[in-house]
Amino acid sequence: MKHEALDQFVPFPGISEFVYSARDFAAVRELVYESSANVLPPNKSTLVYSRLAPLVRNSGLGTFSAYIERLKTDNAERHKAVCALTTNHTAFFREDHHFDHFLSEVRPQMIRKLGAGQPVRLWSAGSSSGEEVFSLCMTLLGPDKVEARRLLAQDLAVLATDLADHVLVKAKRATYDADALAPVPPALRSQWVREDGQGGGTVVDPIRELVRFKALNLMGKWPMKKAFDVIFCRNVMIYFDQPTKDNLVARFADQLVPGGHLYIGHSERVSGPAAAQLELVGKTIYRKIR
Ligand SMILES: C[S@@+](CC[C@H](N)C(=O)[O-])C[C@H]1O[C@@H](n2cnc3c(N)ncnc32)[C@H](O)[C@@H]1O
Repeated sequence: MKHEALDQFVPFPGISEFVYSARDFAAVRELVYESSANVLPPNKSTLVYSRLAPLVRNSGLGTFSAYIERLKTDNAERHKAVCALTTNHTAFFREDHHFDHFLSEVRPQMIRKLGAGQPVRLWSAGSSSGEEVFSLCMTLLGPDKVEARRLLAQDLAVLATDLADHVLVKAKRATYDADALAPVPPALRSQWVREDGQGGGTVVDPIRELVRFKALNLMGKWPMKKAFDVIFCRNVMIYFDQPTKDNLVARFADQLVPGGHLYIGHSERVSGPAAAQLELVGKTIYRKIR
């Protein structure tokens, strides 16, 4: 990876370059890229300072450069620093046209497959704190409890993975405030959210138990044995460079069943040699060609 020049390095206001310098920022960029493929552009230099300063302080090492030296040999601390630098913004029913498409085009096929005793597998890759995968499960199970119970009794499995431990903790808790839950359609919310009386609530057990949340760096090995009917990987590839995106798309294509769907973020596109295996069937929605 060739990083952009650091001419645009913005020092943190009031912080001397003996504490945090362009060299420190460049070293952090290198480490983050090696560990997670995330590319930190030069305009993220102040964000790097504000996210890592508490970790530098806790380490007792005093300066960024001493802390960065530690990151080179201390894997656990490096993982903590990389997690702290991820962008985890997400929302229930974000980019809602994906859920409309899933409801009208994909859900009926899944119901048929499950009814025929075949397995159905879904994966939210880069799930952040769970809003995406819970939106997907609510859409799949629907507002009718009887039908939902029938689907839950079949061979249905849902995986949600992320690199960052702190978002997985939140996802497993499945408790959200009023603002976060506001986009959930009322018919689904009344079925799948236990209200806390203050506008917030917790996603209820049948869905929480259905989703397996796991820590997974998309750059590493994927332990999943079965192929997926649907993969959501939205607003994750924007942080990667082109070769990484191409490679990831190829791995997703391999991991889909024929006819399976890949949903990506609104500013992303499928690229690289594997694009030939995927046909565009909606806005940022791809189907694996049989
Ligand atoms: C902006 S969030 C997107 C969340 C959700 N998919 C959505 O669109 O609302 C991106 C997520 O990707 C995760 N991520 C970044 N690099 C990753 C990697 N190499 N492996 C796994 N997850 C990664 C981040 O931790 C973050 O939670």
